[in-house]
Amino acid sequence: MSIGTAITGSGVYTPNNIITNEELCHTFNAWVRRENERNADAIAAGDIEPLRESSPEFIEKASGIKQRHVHDKTGLLDIDRMCPNVPDRPDDEMSVQCEFAVNAARKALAAAGRVAEDVDMILLAGSNLQRLYPAIAMEVQHYLGARGFAYDLSVGCSSATFPIQIASDALRTGNATCALVVNPEMTTGHMNWRDRDSHFIFGDAGTALVIEPSDRVQSKDAFEILGTKLMSKFSSNIRNNGGYLNRCDPEHQFDANKLFYQQGRRVFKDVVPMASKFIAKHLETLGLLPGDVTRFWLHQANRNMNELVAKRLLGRPATPTEAPLILDEYANTASAGSIIAFSIHHDDLRVGDIGVLCSFGAGYSIGSIVLRRL
Ligand code: COA
Repeated sequence: MSIGTAITGSGVYTPNNIITNEELCHTFNAWVRRENERNADAIAAGDIEPLRESSPEFIEKASGIKQRHVHDKTGLLDIDRMCPNVPDRPDDEMSVQCEFAVNAARKALAAAGRVAEDVDMILLAGSNLQRLYPAIAMEVQHYLGARGFAYDLSVGCSSATFPIQIASDALRTGNATCALVVNPEMTTGHMNWRDRDSHFIFGDAGTALVIEPSDRVQSKDAFEILGTKLMSKFSSNIRNNGGYLNRCDPEHQFDANKLFYQQGRRVFKDVVPMASKFIAKHLETLGLLPGDVTRFWLHQANRNMNELVAKRLLGRPATPTEAPLILDEYANTASAGSIIAFSIHHDDLRVGDIGVLCSFGAGYSIGSIVLRRL
């Protein structure tokens, strides 16, 4: 008989610093004015275009974002820097992403009624990993005091759902008995804060989920995993070429394409139909219709995008309860976004209610997890 699995606890860590759209644009626009003054002659001669200012009104209208939590605020609001200040830490100190993960994991374990020694599998997944080895997941395992094995993986924003399938499969086959999935998204490090098109998009947060066999659940707050479905389709429309080979070409080492960049409009057009069809198809394979779903915890990249995905699924606009948004407060936190939505907005579901957790983003990658409240 196949073993059922369940999400038995979730946790969110958010840094205390907040940057509002107004503060963000104040710095960005001061930098734009200074650059335009510096290049006044070339602009007057028609050799280069003046840079354009950003606006809080545009940001909120285009994305639904009002503010973002950030690990460091000082560096981001310094026009000579516009990059977070993150001092290097010695090897015997917890790394930044480990800290994000451990903070979120402790909350998720408490919610699941578990202690770290119960955990025998840790998957750490994120759109950015601060180093390649030793795996940050192993550092999390060490600082928490967990057992078993741990490793990192990276699937852009779908780092939310891909490890849920891996963990669930490992539990089903008996290769693990209690899994922890963590998403330490320190996204402010990969942003180009001088790019008007994207400087407002991201925020920092860490999330964690505990996943266990359904027959071992201790939490009163658990969701059975009815099904998981993943897909990927290569596209460069969301891309970041930052990596260990950058220093091998010093001329291009610090080019803008070594940070996050995207074709926002293309992403919007490609991903909305892809994600809505994918969720509908996944539900169908489980004998369900979108109308059977009480809650959609969708990836949080853009308000208009989420509203359209939900509308395509339901054939009408979703209510804020059916497809909650957390973008206004957190901005896009990459893979942490759909998990934050789940973590904040699940208490009111009743036993038997169906929910869909769905991530979509760079890759392209999409993951859908269908859940039923236990
Ligand atoms: N401030 C003021 N105006 C701005 C601006 C800013 N920061 N950035 C762009 N604009 C202007 C543009 O110049 C353009 O005006 P113009 O036509 O007069 O030149 C107008 O706003 C529209 O620009 P556009 O880039 O087409 O905006 P958009 O409506 O597509 O919104 C995104 C941009 C990024 C919010 C949107 O495309 C998006 O969210 N796409 C999906 C991205 C996504 O989910 N990525 C996943 C990341 S994990």
